[in-house]
Amino acid sequence: MDTAASLLTIFGASGDLARRMLLPSLYGLEADGLLPGTLRVLGTARSDMDDEGFRRFVADAIARHVPAGEQDDTVLERLQRRLGYQAASVDDEASMHRLGEAVRAAAGGDIVYHLSTAPRFYAPICGALGALGLGGPGTRVLLEKPIGKDLASATAINDGVARVFDEDRVFRVDHYLGKEGVQNLLALRFGNGLFEPLWNARHVQQVQVTVAETVGVEGRGDYYDESGATRDMLQNHLLQLLCLVAMEPPAQFDANAVRNEKLKVLQSLRPIGAADVRTETALGQYTAGALAGQPVPGYLEELGRPSGTETFVALRAHVDNWRWSGVPFYLRTGKRLPSRVTEIALQFRPVPHSIFGAQAQPNVLVIRLQPEERIELRLMSKTPGLDRAGLRLSEVALDLDMHEEFGALRRRPAYERLYLDAIENTGTLFVRRDEVEAAWRWTDQIQAGWAQAGMRPEPYPAGTWGPPGALMLAGRHGHAWRA
Ligand code: BG6
Repeated sequence: MDTAASLLTIFGASGDLARRMLLPSLYGLEADGLLPGTLRVLGTARSDMDDEGFRRFVADAIARHVPAGEQDDTVLERLQRRLGYQAASVDDEASMHRLGEAVRAAAGGDIVYHLSTAPRFYAPICGALGALGLGGPGTRVLLEKPIGKDLASATAINDGVARVFDEDRVFRVDHYLGKEGVQNLLALRFGNGLFEPLWNARHVQQVQVTVAETVGVEGRGDYYDESGATRDMLQNHLLQLLCLVAMEPPAQFDANAVRNEKLKVLQSLRPIGAADVRTETALGQYTAGALAGQPVPGYLEELGRPSGTETFVALRAHVDNWRWSGVPFYLRTGKRLPSRVTEIALQFRPVPHSIFGAQAQPNVLVIRLQPEERIELRLMSKTPGLDRAGLRLSEVALDLDMHEEFGALRRRPAYERLYLDAIENTGTLFVRRDEVEAAWRWTDQIQAGWAQAGMRPEPYPAGTWGPPGALMLAGRHGHAWRA
């Protein structure tokens, strides 16, 4: 079943993700001529709309969310010719029948269903598609995160989906894997011989993964308050980044080879339980503060009710295997932090004997994914000039700015890659069931530890780097977070 899809059916097509990300990504693929000529796109949601209404909806989404310089009426018209819409609700059987007919009428081969709805609808929608005879070979399903809110709910969803779709036809989205910078991490590690000999506990002293956001909860308070930073970001995006940094080289760049290696990392994570949470983790919740000189409200004010949900989480993880034995992986993510940064930093061990005294700082490899893509290797170099006191060192950076290097190329939203791969039936950048479940198993234990230890988020003012506990977490082990 290696054929390109003939139909992409988007559930939740009138939702926020569709408007901001999915439809603009389809537009980008259309602009670059990457959509199969015969591909049709069928939107479905509860909202009552006809085909024309959906075409207008898509035009509006493109106008708002595609950069002005990339907008072109002829591309939009080409995309609009592919579009259709059928209102449906999974709890209304007649509407699902009508949807089934629309799917049959539009499909001329493989079908991709993209479930961009609340996760509680995944199993019922898959069940309905199965009952309509529309879940057989040649169909595949894309599921948005979060898959559940813990291992038990994820297993229930995965079981429900598996009753209709075999695992190799289930594509779980973690949009971080669609980001150019994240794929570049694979290129950096496995396309160069230089790093591999150094990529282990003998040479790496510590690793830091930071996903910092300046935004607050942006009107998604109800969803977010149920999730918190741990379920919303740590369980998926941060652990996926950790996997890509820590995994063994796969034998091939294919879906199972890559995912087998990621799974082994997740299975090697040292459990963090009630006895460790106070020393190995930190939780925070933002209070009112300022960002870029502008006052911003606190989480509770945005939410409008009391809450014990964390908007910041940091922890010290260990990958207990030969390669990484004893190397701490510091992970942190939070909302309303001072700047938007996603980066991975590997700090190498200090020189074994410094002939320059305390001047020699350890080398650091920084892989910056957002806002700009950049790879920086921080090295010690002689400060130019004469100095009676001897040779003076400065830290300098070998710096590769991907934007400067490949400046002419457009920055692609993650969903362009993911849609293209799903249409072409390539699962490498999607998450397998066992990965999702292993990630929940690990984070569930931490969450249970917090509950057992009675650990609650500490306040941090918006616009600061999280609560004091986060600084202490690294400081306790003689380390410091990168500024
Ligand atoms: C989503 C989370 O998965 O990722 C959001 O639900 C978060 O809370 C977003 O803001 C961050 O994605 P990006 O691509 O902006 O880093």
